[in-house]
Amino acid sequence: MVTALERTAYQLSQSVRLGWYSVQSALASRLSERVRAPAALRAAMPSVATLSEDRRRLMRRDLENIEAGYYRLPHDLVDNPAAVLRQTVLYFSDLRAVNQRIRRGVAAEVRAPDLEHYPDYYRRSFHHQTDGYLSRRSAELYDYQVEVLFGGAADAMRRQALVPLHHFLRGKRIADQHLADIGCGTGQFLTFVKDNYPRLPVTALDISPFYLDEARRRLRHWSRVTFVEAAAETMSLPEASVDIATCIYLFHELPTEMQDKVAARMARILKPGGMLIFIDSLQLGDRADYDALLEYFPMAFHEPYYADYLRRDLGRVFEGTGLMLEQINLAYLSRITVLRKPGTPADQRR
Ligand SMILES: C[S@@+](CC[C@H](N)C(=O)[O-])C[C@H]1O[C@@H](n2cnc3c(N)ncnc32)[C@H](O)[C@@H]1O
Repeated sequence: MVTALERTAYQLSQSVRLGWYSVQSALASRLSERVRAPAALRAAMPSVATLSEDRRRLMRRDLENIEAGYYRLPHDLVDNPAAVLRQTVLYFSDLRAVNQRIRRGVAAEVRAPDLEHYPDYYRRSFHHQTDGYLSRRSAELYDYQVEVLFGGAADAMRRQALVPLHHFLRGKRIADQHLADIGCGTGQFLTFVKDNYPRLPVTALDISPFYLDEARRRLRHWSRVTFVEAAAETMSLPEASVDIATCIYLFHELPTEMQDKVAARMARILKPGGMLIFIDSLQLGDRADYDALLEYFPMAFHEPYYADYLRRDLGRVFEGTGLMLEQINLAYLSRITVLRKPGTPADQRR
């Protein structure tokens, strides 16, 4: 039950959030070196008004989900102003380095000798971010950068995963279930999971020790959290050990052969009857009016595998792992796909 006061608090805080990040985004564009989109793409771009109305629609849906009891009001409804200011300063001081990288192009990859044991495809300055995913500073800045990129809508898009999670967990003993978030980043999504299901055992898996450290910091107030530093394509979580796998914004940053391997691993770790909740960027054709924007994205922000991702038939990738498609939902710039491993937990006991 959401009170009138809580509803107002949500609406106010999210309006401030959208306004704040939209202004930051506009300012960052002005201060940034940007690759100009080809004329044909420019002509087909969605307008600022469309994007901003779609973000507001997402927030209305977020509130409807909360009112329907699918999940709680966000725990971080009111951000700490000092922390936001600190991140703003960090973000804008980093812009100069980002601009230099844009000017130099892809030569500016992450090449420090002590990082050579990471896969080559991964040592990239994704989004031109300083150090790629391989420093404490990058981990500290990541969520702020993502929110600026999405005009404040990133968390609300991630929260859409809590709806199928609610349906899956309904009537089950929470402490007996196990969720693994693959490519968990700074653990932001898991903070929403744990805020709703404090007794749910979760595994936070990522290849970056720096991002895992940030996730550890954010999740320190909750118990039953295991951190695993591993590449998803070789992760050794036991077969059929997980009831729910979540994977958010990882695939568009993987080359296609890695996508196949990670999809197979996720299917393997799921128990029969288990659920995969998969969120990533829209693909071409999901929303024709957004296609030009999607095509422009890898030109403007360094995303080496995104152009392939946009055209990949992910349905076939997952079909090849034996997972069954249950549901697809679009939420602003994201697509939420829900898949099931055939069978029931009883099959496993046989
Ligand atoms: C775009 S971020 C998404 C993070 C988080 N899921 C979110 O919602 O923001 C991609 C994350 O995947 C991690 N990652 C990339 N390749 C990986 C791999 N092969 N195995 C495990 N993690 C990987 C990165 O370190 C980064 O934390």
